[in-house]
Amino acid sequence: MKLPIYLDYAATTPIDPRVVEKMLHYMSVDGDFGNPASLSHAYGQAAKQAVDWARAQVADLIQAEVSEVIWTSGATESVNLALKGSAALYRAKGKHIITMKTEHKAVLDSCEQLEKEGFSVSYLSPESNGLLDCSKLLSAIREDTILVSVMHVNNETGVIQDINTIAQITAAREILFHVDAAQSNGKISIDVTQMPIDLISLNAHKVYGPKGVGALYIRRKPRVRVAALIHGGGQEQGMRSGTLATHQIVGMAEALRLAKQDMAADYQKIHALRERFLQQLSPLKNISVNGDSKGYPGILNICFPGIKAERFMQKCPELAVSSGSACLNKGIEPSYVLRAMGLTTEEAQTAIRFSFGRFTTIDEIDYAAQNIIKQLSL
Ligand SMILES: Cc1ncc(COP(=O)(O)O)c(C=O)c1O
Repeated sequence: MKLPIYLDYAATTPIDPRVVEKMLHYMSVDGDFGNPASLSHAYGQAAKQAVDWARAQVADLIQAEVSEVIWTSGATESVNLALKGSAALYRAKGKHIITMKTEHKAVLDSCEQLEKEGFSVSYLSPESNGLLDCSKLLSAIREDTILVSVMHVNNETGVIQDINTIAQITAAREILFHVDAAQSNGKISIDVTQMPIDLISLNAHKVYGPKGVGALYIRRKPRVRVAALIHGGGQEQGMRSGTLATHQIVGMAEALRLAKQDMAADYQKIHALRERFLQQLSPLKNISVNGDSKGYPGILNICFPGIKAERFMQKCPELAVSSGSACLNKGIEPSYVLRAMGLTTEEAQTAIRFSFGRFTTIDEIDYAAQNIIKQLSL
């Protein structure tokens, strides 16, 4: 067993060896290393073919058209393009945006930037289980609301928002709806033919693909437009210039293709690991799980009363987990996600995020649980 045991799959995942194998072909002199925009010769054409194949895989994952998928450098860039790019083009229609306090910083910081540019943003609080009560959304909507942004799976708690209901609410009012699906793509299905979502941010490295690549889904019917943030060679329909990173893009596509193929089995396995882990921790009577119990099982956020996260991690150096807190220059901050769900600062400081994945084994789960029980009793 490799120590420390990796239980931080929500931060990032290792690349699946099948994905690495596929990526290698697009890098060196013996492979298809050409620039996919260099269509005057076979090198470029082969790379373009690979990018086209990859786009079809990503589109297929969410039932989109290939022309609705734009490559980016990751979910952070996709979110920035979705929020700032749509705000720029729809500002004449209105300057009000709605999001949630529990969103990832990519969304919150983009919104903060938009506030500096004259937009007003409503930050909705979740219920204590992390879920959005849609009546709050309905009362926050104004005449000048142009955009709603709500994530699919929360990166700290695994809470799954009801994006279908939200999409129905926004579509009926001709308000754009963006979903940050960085933690859910390839794990929980999204079908844009059934859900009227306008923009979806996707990435690869949370689902056994490479870091530094992502995509933005932009609906064509009805047509959604975003202003480019990066200007240059006019790639990606002018919405995102820059030479396409063929190997990264192929890696993302292969990772998502495998994820789609194995989605049900991966989910079941991870669900069983979570149940086993919780079962083994049951002698610790006072622990509590944060967030809705029907969340994504690969993310488990637990408060260990009386022991701060830093201390927990010092006591359990054999476990690679996350405190769910951000290290800011003023020190460790309790998680703003848990605070928004109503936990006190003291409670939030005792939270540990465990996240499981495709390569987590039963032995690792057993070892981790026993290790926690032993260390916390010392
Ligand atoms: C919910 C969520 N959104 C956005 C991001 C940013 O993704 P990326 O690392 O691909 O920029 C992450 C990853 O940390 C995430 O968990």
